[in-house]
Amino acid sequence: MSTFTIPGLSTDDGARVAAVLQERLSAYNDLHLTLKHIHWNVVGPNFIGVHEMIDPQVDLVRGYADDVAERIAALGNSPKGTAGAIEADRSWDDYSVGRDDARAHLAALDLVYTGVITDSRAAIDSVGKIDPITEDMLIGQTAQLEKFQWFVRAHLENSGGNLVHEGSSTELDAADKARKA
Ligand SMILES: [Fe+2]
Repeated sequence: MSTFTIPGLSTDDGARVAAVLQERLSAYNDLHLTLKHIHWNVVGPNFIGVHEMIDPQVDLVRGYADDVAERIAALGNSPKGTAGAIEADRSWDDYSVGRDDARAHLAALDLVYTGVITDSRAAIDSVGKIDPITEDMLIGQTAQLEKFQWFVRAHLENSGGNLVHEGSSTELDAADKARKA
């Protein structure tokens, strides 16, 4: 426990915000690793489009991890950036799709983004009343994550506004539906 934090916050509130941010840090660290895994494992006719679409998002999410970690430090706490921290903090499983075609990966990735964005919105809600600066940072990050999810979904959407993997609750099921669509 630190003896200092951001001016205007109690050290308890600083620690509360830092704990919320630690979960986002591990989520972002897991996400940029998952994105690279897809970058390496996508195959098939649309390989190059997806392979190249992923890398700018890796850079963006790595930047978000950096911003979140440095905010934790500014709050007077210690950001945990190790593989063990990701494992300890996460409530989800490893990304489950290996070598597969573009739409299969994108359908699975859509579920990944739904999980990350849902948790980020909950984090925005929980820090909002304590620290509007952290809230503002998370809002900006989440807006860009939501934009990228639209990029992902645009590959999976038909003219009627349906997603090919609609109703899937697991990545493998989503990938399977998208592969057959
Ligand atoms: Fe690469």
